[in-house]
Order: sequence, then C-alpha cells, then structure tokens
Amino acid sequence: MTRAIEKKIEQLREEIEKHSYAYHVLDDPLIPDVEYDALFRALQQLEFDHPGLVTAASPTQRIGAKPSDAFPPAEHTDPMLSLGNVFDAAELEAFETRIRDRLGEDQEIEYTAEPKIDGLAVSLVYENGVLVRGATRGDGFTGEDITENIRTIRSVPLRLQKHRDMPERLEVRGEVFMPKKGFEEINVHARKEGKKAFVNPRNAAAGALRRLDPRETAGYPLDAFFYNATGIAKQTLIRTQFGVLQYLKKMGFKICAEAQQVSGCQGCLQYYGAILDKRAALGYELDGVVYKVNDLDLQEVLGMVSRAPRWAVAHKFPAQEAATRVADIRFQVGRTGALTPVAKLEPVFVGGATVSNATLHNMDEVNRKDVRIGDRVIIRRAGDVIPEVVKTIPDSGTGRGDPIQAPKRCPECNSEVVRIEGEALIRCSGGLYCPAQRKGVIRHFASRKAMDIEGLGTKLVDQLVDKGLVSSVKDLFHLDKEDLVELEFMGELSATNLLDAIKKSKHTTLARFIYALGIREVGEATAASLADQFRDLEPLQQADYEALQEVPDVGPVIAENITAFFRQAHNREILSELKNAGLVWEVKPKPDEQDNPLAGKTFVLTGRLEKFSRAEAALQLKALGAKVTGSVSRKTTAVIAGEDPGSKVDKARSLGVKVLAEEDLLALLQPDP
Ligand code: IVH
Repeated sequence: MTRAIEKKIEQLREEIEKHSYAYHVLDDPLIPDVEYDALFRALQQLEFDHPGLVTAASPTQRIGAKPSDAFPPAEHTDPMLSLGNVFDAAELEAFETRIRDRLGEDQEIEYTAEPKIDGLAVSLVYENGVLVRGATRGDGFTGEDITENIRTIRSVPLRLQKHRDMPERLEVRGEVFMPKKGFEEINVHARKEGKKAFVNPRNAAAGALRRLDPRETAGYPLDAFFYNATGIAKQTLIRTQFGVLQYLKKMGFKICAEAQQVSGCQGCLQYYGAILDKRAALGYELDGVVYKVNDLDLQEVLGMVSRAPRWAVAHKFPAQEAATRVADIRFQVGRTGALTPVAKLEPVFVGGATVSNATLHNMDEVNRKDVRIGDRVIIRRAGDVIPEVVKTIPDSGTGRGDPIQAPKRCPECNSEVVRIEGEALIRCSGGLYCPAQRKGVIRHFASRKAMDIEGLGTKLVDQLVDKGLVSSVKDLFHLDKEDLVELEFMGELSATNLLDAIKKSKHTTLARFIYALGIREVGEATAASLADQFRDLEPLQQADYEALQEVPDVGPVIAENITAFFRQAHNREILSELKNAGLVWEVKPKPDEQDNPLAGKTFVLTGRLEKFSRAEAALQLKALGAKVTGSVSRKTTAVIAGEDPGSKVDKARSLGVKVLAEEDLLALLQPDP
C-alpha cells in the first residue's frame, strides 16, 4: 500500500518538476496551468495524507507550505461554510426552484451576485473596533490563527472606522488573494533570482499568507475583499446581503466592486455572462460567480444543509475538461436494475485525479453524442461530480467501432433488458435474481445514511454475495465469524469488528430503516417525512395510496412505489425476518398537541403581507408546528394570500382549498387564550 503511494508521490514529483522546468526555465509550458495546478494539488493532498513521506526537496516545500500545526488553532464560533456548485442554466434553475418551493415563493428571487475570488477564505474578529484575530478557514470549524500575517495586508483595517452601527464584537469574512499584477511581478522577480515562481495567484496567496515569519508575508502583494459580517442582521437594521457589503465598506473594508443585485435566474445568467466577458480585464483571478439570496431573513429561513448554505450557490466557470480515448463501453447495473453505459477510458488526469471511467448517463445520450469504442472524447470532471463524456472529437476516423447498441440481456445475470415507456432508462428485469441488483440493494442497506454498518463496503458485499453467504439483507444478521474469516482481506479482528458493527446497527431509527429499504424514489428526506407521519413500520405498511399522499413530498408516483414495495410477499417476509433478527427502532410519541396547536396543518403563503415578510410568517407558523410548503395541493390546509397573490389562489379555489387573508393568519398565530 505505502509502496504504491510512495511510487505515486515520486511520479507526481517528477511530473511536476518536468513541467515546472518547462514553465519556469524554458518559458515553454507543456500543459495548461490548470493541469499543472491539478498535479500540484494532488501531490499536496497525498503528502497531507501521508506526512511521513514529505521531503524537503518536494516541490510543495518550495512555496513554504507549512503543516497546519505551525499555527495555533482558531475556533470558529459560526462554522465557515462551503458552497454548492452549479455549472449551467438548468442547474441554476433547479437551485432557484428549490428555494422557491421551500419559501413558498412564486415571485422572482432577488440575489446579490459576486465574483468567486480564487484565494483563501479568512475570518477576522474585531473587538471594540480593533482587529484581535485573523484566521484561515481550516476545516470550517477550526482554522489557523494567522493574526500577525493578516495584519501585514495593507487593505485590512487594523481599526474600524467609527460608525454608530459598530457592534462590540464584529466578525467579518472574506477572501485574501494576490492581484494578478502583483503575482506577475513577484514571479518575474523570482525567475530573475532563479527561484521557483508560483503556480497561480491562489497558491501564491496561500504560500504568502502562511509564512511563519510575518515579515516575509509583508513582502508579498496581498489584498482582500470582504463579503460577510457574521450575525449582523441581529445587531443592526441591515436586511440584505447587498446591505452587508455597503456596511463593510463604511466600516473601512474593501469590497469587490463587481458585486451587484440581480433578479431571478435571468439576472444571474446575465451577470455570469458579463463577468465571464470581463474576466481577463479584472485585476484578480476568479473561478466563477456566487449568487446569494439577498434578503437576510430569507437566508435565515433557508438555513443550511451539509455545511453549505441553501441560500447561496457558486456558478463555476467552465469545468475542467480533458481529451482521451474510449477503450471500451460497458453497461453497469445499479440496485434498481438500471443499466448505465460507462466508457472505459485510457486513463487521463483531470480535475485533480486520474480518471479511467466516465458515465454516458443513458442510451439517449450515447446516441445523441454518437460515442463509440476507439473515439477520442472530451471528458469532464467538475468538482466531486462523476466524470462524464462530454462529446467525441471528430478524428481521422481510424479504428472507430460500430454504433453502440443497448444490450438485450443483462450483462450480469442474462435476464431480459426492458425499456420503460417514456423513460430514458433501460433496466434488467432480473430483480433480486440479478447479483448486481442484489449487491446494490445490500450496499445501500449498509450505507452510512441508511443502517450505517461500518466496514461493509463494496468489495466485501461483492464477496459475500458471490460466495453465497448473503443473498438478501436479512442474511447479514446471521453471519458468523467462521463465514467471515474465510473471505479475502478479512482477518480475525476485522471479522469481529464487522460483526460488532452489524450488531450495533440493529438499534436504529425508523427514518434510517425506511431509507435503507431502498424503495424507489424514497430518499433520505422522504423517509424522514414518512417516519414522522406514521411513527412505526406497521402503520406505514398498512397505509393506502391516499394516506401516503397526505405526507409532504409524497405524490402519486412515490405512493405507488411504496405500496408496490409492501405488496410484494418477498419484501414482507424480509421485514419480518429482520424484526426476528432483533432490529429495533425508536418509536416516537406524537408531538404534544398543546405545544403545537398547528401540528398536522400545511399552509402555503402567497402575495405581499403587510405586517411581516412571508419568511417571517413561515417561521412563526412552523414554530407552532405547521408545515409551510411552496405549492398548493389537496393536502394544503389553507392558502394565505396577501396583496397581489399569484396563481396559487386560483389553484386553491379549483381544488377546494381554503383561502385565508392576513387577518386570519394573525388570528392563527395569536390564538385566544
Ligand atoms: S460566500 C456562505 N462569497 O469560496 C459562505 N465565498 O466555496 C460561503 N469565495 O470558502 C462563502 N469568493 O473561500 C463567498 N464572493 C464570495 C467568494 C467566496 C470566493 C470562496 C470562499 C469559500 C469558498 C466556498
């Protein structure tokens, strides 16, 4: 293992040295900067994961990258979040739709759009107007205390400008970066001195900011833009992100002059296009733009999910792409039997990793792109997204294979492949007879968000199924040590650990268990709603089509999937065997009706309210136990309509759903004692 890693690190160093020489000595780079950067980051990552393998001669050590324990830790009282990404208009629209649905908003959303500066996130704390701490983001919860280095940045105020809105403690966040001009100058200088130049302004800023000696940091042309003041809405009258920027400016911070208020997806896209056109003329590097819901109250309502705000998103500039050749095209069978065409590639380094598989999504895509074995293709690996084939590159035409045909039989179990009317997918009809589907089901059951059986990964599941030790999830609970130690890579200790993990997983929650069943289209959130509504498995199993649709997010399709799942005798059998094996979940009592007078009621807000914003109204309704959703259905208790309501009122009337006015809402919120 370590040998392989050592080899990989050595390869990367040689590769990086070669390109570095070409770039800095010969002034004749062999690869684009982004590719060099990707190599460098891959090396940094490997060295970070295996600190024992770092050597003084490693190219990463030249820029003075220090292990993170070089600085004292700095805790962030509010975690420093990261951002979700979108790459095109459709994804941006989906982002906005999610927001609107959540807010019950049918008008356009206002945003503040800002460049996504390619630098390092920092947090600065001011007490009584004086800078007392500067920190890096670190893992979001704990960063490095780099106060002395931050103090060397000329544009960072050491004291705030006197202002009546100055809180006792102010935390601001922003991005430290190296302007392109300064970056070029130090690189010219470095080259003259025979020193290594920085790969890009971001690396330069990172290296400069994390010098152990602040006097060295002071020698670099660093700058910073600020975009956030943590918790400011609670202390001042500022109500928008754009207002936050103006406030920061008044306090003496530098803000990015390109920030703008825009309206709806259209506004965002226009902004994106304009910034992309301007990109080369801007004095700093950026790798995209960020859209933030402008209204801070709405931000609060939207909250965050898995360490990223729901109210902001990064629209990245064109993702990283690379060219390679398709060696083969195979069909991979997922847990629902869907067959996904996957291109096996000549390995290529892109977006920081070597890629040898790329998805072709489905047969429609294969046909549209006319991808064939032997083709040169452009593949894209953007962020954490699964690499995909973007298009084929018209070639001299040699060695092109035949057009790809959808298989008639499942490559795993030879069952017939069916195509469902109106769906792009093709599926293996083998069901749980198909080992690939069985493996998929078991993997899903054991996965982290489901039963969370630690150590039960893909390779192990494959072995368990192939050896006939496990053919359905219930068998997991009857494994014993003798079975396990015979498996490859399985010692006495890991067998014991696995059995412990399986045992531990028996105590779970209803939501996890429902999710673990792998009912089609019942994701984590829906499983949680179902658990909330039915409170135990029995009632869920008995629930009919109508009762299921009472649950928020459950429409006819999911309701049908659920009833179909429980109709199958074989699924019911597995459920009872799981119970016999000792699986238990907490059964939560119904929430106290007295504390939640609006429990079980669902409202939709539309139009302009006079006394408060819709977001506030939603918060107050939720505090009393109500649900607030974005679209009107039969499940809606009532639509609350303010001034100029939209089509939701018509929809409510057509469905026979009550329409209430703002006075009625006030009455709901302040029930008579
Ligand atoms: S907002 C909501 N605004 O991008 C909190 N981030 O991917 C997220 N960044 O760690 C930060 N320019 O280093 C925000 N105008 C901008 C930004 C920006 C650059 C960086 C920042 C952050 C990362 C998130």
